[in-house]
Formats: sequence, structure tokens, C-alpha cells
Amino acid sequence: MSDVQLHPVQDAWKERALIDKAQYDEMYKRSIDDPEGFWKEHMQRLDWIKEPTRIKAVNFEYPDISIKWFEDGELNVSANCIDRHLKDKGEQTAIIWEADSPDDEAQHISYQQLHAHVCKFANVLKEMGVSKGDRVVIYLPMIPQAAYAMLACARIGAVHSIVFAGFSPDALADRINDCDAKVLITADHAPRGGKKTPLKANADKALKKCGDDVKCLTVKRVGDDVDMQDGRDFWLHEMEETVGNDCDPVAMNAEDPLFILYTSGSTGKPKGVVHTSGGYLVWTSMTHELVFDYHPGDIYWCGADIGWVTGHSYIVYGPLANGATTLMFEGVPTYPDASRFWKVIEKHKVNQFYTAPTAIRALMGKGDSFVEGHDLSSLKVLGTVGEPINPEAWEWYFHKIGKGKTPIVDTWWQTETGGHLITPLPGATDLKPGSATNPFFGVKPVMLEAESGKVIEATEAEGVLAIADSWPGQMRTVYGDHERFANTYFQQYQGYYFSGDGARRDADGYYWITGRVDDVINVSGHRMGTAEVESALVSHPKVSEAAVVGYPHDVKGQGIYCYVTLMAGEEPSEELRNELRNHVREEIGPIASPDLIQFAPGLPKTRSGKIMRRILRKIAEDQYDSLGDTSTLAEPEVVDDLIVNHKDLK
Ligand code: WT7
Repeated sequence: MSDVQLHPVQDAWKERALIDKAQYDEMYKRSIDDPEGFWKEHMQRLDWIKEPTRIKAVNFEYPDISIKWFEDGELNVSANCIDRHLKDKGEQTAIIWEADSPDDEAQHISYQQLHAHVCKFANVLKEMGVSKGDRVVIYLPMIPQAAYAMLACARIGAVHSIVFAGFSPDALADRINDCDAKVLITADHAPRGGKKTPLKANADKALKKCGDDVKCLTVKRVGDDVDMQDGRDFWLHEMEETVGNDCDPVAMNAEDPLFILYTSGSTGKPKGVVHTSGGYLVWTSMTHELVFDYHPGDIYWCGADIGWVTGHSYIVYGPLANGATTLMFEGVPTYPDASRFWKVIEKHKVNQFYTAPTAIRALMGKGDSFVEGHDLSSLKVLGTVGEPINPEAWEWYFHKIGKGKTPIVDTWWQTETGGHLITPLPGATDLKPGSATNPFFGVKPVMLEAESGKVIEATEAEGVLAIADSWPGQMRTVYGDHERFANTYFQQYQGYYFSGDGARRDADGYYWITGRVDDVINVSGHRMGTAEVESALVSHPKVSEAAVVGYPHDVKGQGIYCYVTLMAGEEPSEELRNELRNHVREEIGPIASPDLIQFAPGLPKTRSGKIMRRILRKIAEDQYDSLGDTSTLAEPEVVDDLIVNHKDLK
């Protein structure tokens, strides 16, 4: 990557920043040499009901994985995100809400108002029978009630599990059932990009596949008619009239679960990633403050959806724990047109803006005219997350949006990590476009040889990325399946947390994430297990076999490429392609919609019947010359057919 230009820390960034290079070096060293002392100090950023005396208890040795931080401490996450700010910041805006339509007036919700809403909401949940430890599934649009619902759960010790509003009824039902939720929270409709998703109707379909005792609480967002089933379905606004205003936060152990969030892996159904209370909040609040260089009074905007971990950690928990003003946006970057992001930044004088490379590439593709004429001078820090950013998009973001004056923090992390692990700090890190740069405090990245698992000691290295020790924000288990947790992350490379990503470390020790090395693909920053799409495809009666791989896509980063073998007697057609595409959308949701479907009379298999995905990946990437050894295939000739058909498809 010698063609990549170095962007050194500018004086203005250094002046403003909470952490400079010397501090970073000193703090990083201490965090590694003396984690107990380091975290004993930094846990003080939270209000504890009972201050922890035991800081870290971790075992990374397979199979007895155990991760505990601050284990004898007690706190309440909602009290840390709301109550403790009331004295000094009661009147300050906690949440700015910008609706899908620019014609709807924005809302400014103060900490005082947030407190009132969350207490009411918590009392409604209690009234519906929810108590400490119960699971609540949240299936909502990007509306303030989504944050109220999360914080209300945290207030009473219930464990929330948010399901992205773009997921289908089937996917929603699977998640409700997996965590055995007591209540589902939804809305009548979800407006997005000028269209509406019928959330309550989706919820009704999902609930048909769930136990009779699951209750449903509905937020009125749009006001359209929906079906309400007596005894099962309740309106939030009606319930709120029947409950009191006050709700004391419950004391929770630091290791009590805060939420479950389902994410895709390389095999089987999505895993319920479990995050707990104390370590997660220390981690998200500290990274939010230092990575975005957040100062009191700043207006901060993370453009993610709360259905993903980015929304959990960096719209709700991190910012609110810091008493920040966090902007929540219901819409999409291209509605009404491709200037919406820039209009929102101008309107609310946003200081920090955080989005995904796919959005940057899409907007860059629409042309600079959508940016021009907007006053973006409030911006101080830009961020990216979700996938590697190509230097071209980085430079566009830097020059066109940041006017060459704001640092870009390219934050590498995962649902599993709770918050940022490898990231620049605005006043400390010289930037290289496309590199997530250096580890955050307490993070010990290691590069391993993929095959042997040997640690690569040389600074310059290429291999798989693992982490040698725990950090407070790490996931603790897979809900209901601790064995799967150990097997997924700690078995292949023993003694380490394995990220599933490949990476390169350059001569300066900077990390460059190269993408997943497992059967997970990253589509527009959304994580998709190829196995999930395959099982959706083969559940269609006309499909006998399917293999799904990622391929490079200009805007989405990766697209979903499906090889499909039909049942005997079925004929390939454009119509069938659409039918299969719709089928996958129904099984999983629009985000899993196949980009390309290639009908393949045969798939490349070993003699023992295993599909050679490596070959399929290479064909999808147009890399016909590097298919590798095909002589071990049961029928090597299928490869030529696949290539011919692939060329026709594109
Ligand atoms: C995967 C995790 C982290 C919140 C959003 C996605 C990829 C994430 C970066 C980055 C290169 C990145 C990795 C990772 N990824 N951030 N800055 N540079 N790749 O969370 O759905 O759990 O996906 O996203 O491949 O493993 P997720």
C-alpha cells in the first residue's frame, strides 16, 4: 500500500484532543502491563452502587472459557445513562431525533424528559409482567421509543434483544423463540426512505410461530390501522396512562446480562451474543469519548441503526453514559435525495459523524453536487465502521466532507467486541487511509499464521487477527450455548480470541483489515452467514442444492453470489430467479437479497462430496487463473461450465 498517502495529526486536532501521542503511548503501555490497575482507575468513569474490588477474572484456555470484569460490582446502566446527568444536564438535549421525512419537525429530548419517558416505559414493562432477567425483544424503527425501550429494560434488569426492523417475520420468530422472550415491542409501521414497512403485521406473522404467552407492545408511529389481539396486544400510549411516573433503577451485578444481539456466523443459525452490564458500559463510554474526541456540548451523530451493535454502543449506551447529545436518524442517506446526510449535519451543527464505507461510496457515486452548498464547518471528527474503506472513498470523505480539516477514525470492531478495538485517536494517531491503525487501551492484537496458528513476531506480517487477552467490553457467551461460544472463538487458535478476520501489519505496526477468512460475508456493512442464505435457498421446493459466496461489489463492498442447482425437471428462467430472490427476502429479510443467482447443473465437489467453495469464490471474483488444484474434484469438468455460465451472467 505504498501509494497510500500519510495524513499526520494536524495541530488543530492535537490542541483539541483529549489524548495526544505521548499520552496514548504511556496509557497503552500501562493498560497492557497492569490491566488491573488501569481498569480500576478507568472504571471510575461510571457510578457504581457497589464499587468493584475484583477487577479482572479471565480464562482464555479452551475449553473452559470464562470472562468476568468487575465481578463483585453493582450498578444500573440506565441510571448511568440518565439519572446521574440530571443534576447538571437535566435541560440539555440527550437525543435529537430526525424523522424520515425532512418535513417532520426534529425532536429534542432533554435528559429530564428522557428520564420521564424511560421510567414510564419501564413501569409499562413491569405491568406486562416483565421482571429482572426476563428477555424482551425490540423490533422498532429508529424512533426515540427504541432508546426508551432499551433503557427501560436496563432500568428493571430485563435483557433486551433488538431485531433489525428489516428482518422478516421468520427471522424475528427465530430470535423471539431462541431467547424465550416474554414481550415483543414493535410499532405500527416503520417509515424509511419514503416507504413504510408494516412492522406490526410482521410481528403478527412472527407471533404465530411463538408461544401463546408472548405479549406484544406497540408504539404508534404512523397512526395507520393495525390488528390488535385482545389479551396479547397492547398500545404503549394506552398502557402509559395506567402506570406511575417513578421507577427506581434496580441494582445489577456487573456481570448480569444487559442485552443479547443475534449475529451471523460461518455455520448454523445466528448466535445470541451476550453483553453484560459493567464492562460493556466502561468500554463503550470510554471509546465513545476518546475515539470521537467527544467534548461536553458536542453534537454527535452515528448514522447506524439500533438493530446493529453500532447503534447499541454508539447511538445509545456510550454517548448517553457520557452525558452527550446523540442524534438519531430514522431515514436513509438518499431520501429525499443524496444530500440528506449533509443537510442533517448542517441543520443540527453536528460535530462528530460516524457512518459506513458503503454509504460513503454510494454518496460519492452520486456526485459532489449533493455536498456543495452545505455548511459542514461544524464537523470535527469523522468516523467509519463496518468494513474496510478503500483509500479513494477515504480521501473523498476527508476532502469533500471534512474539507481536509477533520481526522477520520476508521474503527475496527465486531458485535462480539462490544466496542472499538483497533482505531485511531484524533489527536494521537497519524492516519493512513484504509488502515484501522492501532489498538485501543487494553487490546493486545496478535497476528497468527492461518494454518499453523503460530504467532508472527515480525512487525510486518500477514495472517489472521486474534486478540491475546480480554478487554472489559468483550462478549461473555452465546445465549444458551456456552460451548458454541468456546468453539467458535477459542478452539481453532487456542489461548486467543479469534476474530474471523484476516489482516496485515505494516512496518509501522499499523493494522489493515483484509476481510473475513470464514464463511461470513459483509454486505453493505451487514454481516451475513453464507450458510443462512444457503439454507433459505434450499428450503425452496425447486432447489436441490445451493452454495453462496461473496464477490467484490463497487458500492456494497461484497455482494451475495448464489450458485443454485435445481431439482430434476425444473428449468432455469429469469422468473425463477426472481422467485428465489423473493424467497430469500421472505426467509431472512431484504438485506439478504441475492445479487446474482447462477443456475449450476453441477457444483465442484471433492470425492467425499464436500463443496469446494474456494473455487466458487474465485469464479465469482473473475479469478479464473487462480482456481488452484482442481484435480481432486469428483468431476473436474463442472468448473468449465461454471466459468462459461458465470461470464454470461455478468
Ligand atoms: C465485521 C464485524 C463493528 C460494528 C459493525 C459491524 C468488519 C468492522 C471494520 C473496519 C474493516 C471492519 C470485520 C468484522 N469490520 N469494522 N473498520 N475495517 N473491517 O459489526 O456485524 O459484527 O461485523 O465487520 O470483518 O469482523 P459486525
